[in-house]
Amino acid sequence: MKMKNLSTLLLLWLVLLLVAFFPVRSLSPSLNDDVLGLIVFKADIQDPSQKLSSWNEDDDTPCNWIGVRCNPRSNRVTELNLDGFSLSGRIGRGLLQLKFLRKLSLARNNLSGSISPNLAKLESLRIIDLSENSLSGFIPDDFFKQCGSLRSISLASNRLSGKIPGSLGSCATLAAINLSWNQFSGTLPGGIWGLSGLRSLDLSGNLLEGRFQKGLKL
Ligand SMILES: *[C@@H]1O[C@H](CO)[C@@H](O)[C@H](O)[C@H]1NC(C)=O
Ligand SMILES: *[C@@H]1O[C@H](CO)[C@@H](O)[C@H](O)[C@H]1NC(C)=O
Repeated sequence: MKMKNLSTLLLLWLVLLLVAFFPVRSLSPSLNDDVLGLIVFKADIQDPSQKLSSWNEDDDTPCNWIGVRCNPRSNRVTELNLDGFSLSGRIGRGLLQLKFLRKLSLARNNLSGSISPNLAKLESLRIIDLSENSLSGFIPDDFFKQCGSLRSISLASNRLSGKIPGSLGSCATLAAINLSWNQFSGTLPGGIWGLSGLRSLDLSGNLLEGRFQKGLKL
């Protein structure tokens, strides 16, 4: 009898402990998602100049790491600026953890491989600059399908090929597109002319065919 009471008591304590700690556990990991995401990103690339040596996985936040900017109130990563850091290798899945990222700039590196199909789906992302790297392959056809709040994308001076995806025309927030100096071919998606916020479109140095609609400054 006594044993039974004791185990009931123990069980009750366990439940109480779980209830007490679960909310705390479910609130704090979101902060470390950014640390985790950036460490995974770093693990996937080569950094021969050791520009990312300040990126330490034991830190509570990545906000003092070089190239990283946070919202000072939430301590969530809003910008990643690693232009000209001599990075090579592939852009892995780590960046997809950065749910509050507004600007991603990895221009003038030696990054290779293809573009992650889910990058433009990061909801807060406004600016993507991956220009002057060695990215190759196609842009997935639905890359721009759920483009969140994307304003500006530059993939200029890479080795991207294939058609410019039709979903580009459905990304209504876009103001600037720079796909120059790649090997894109085929015709432009018709929807591009319906992007009412588009201010700048650079498609020079590709293998595109067909006529450009009049009235557009290229
Ligand atoms: C660029 O990356 C490739 C492999 O991805 C490597 O062979 C080459 O040496 C790198 N070039 C520079 C300038 O870092
Ligand atoms: C597109 O990107 C290339 C390479 O970074 C740059 O030289 C060019 O000025 C850009 N075009 C526009 C319209 O900004």
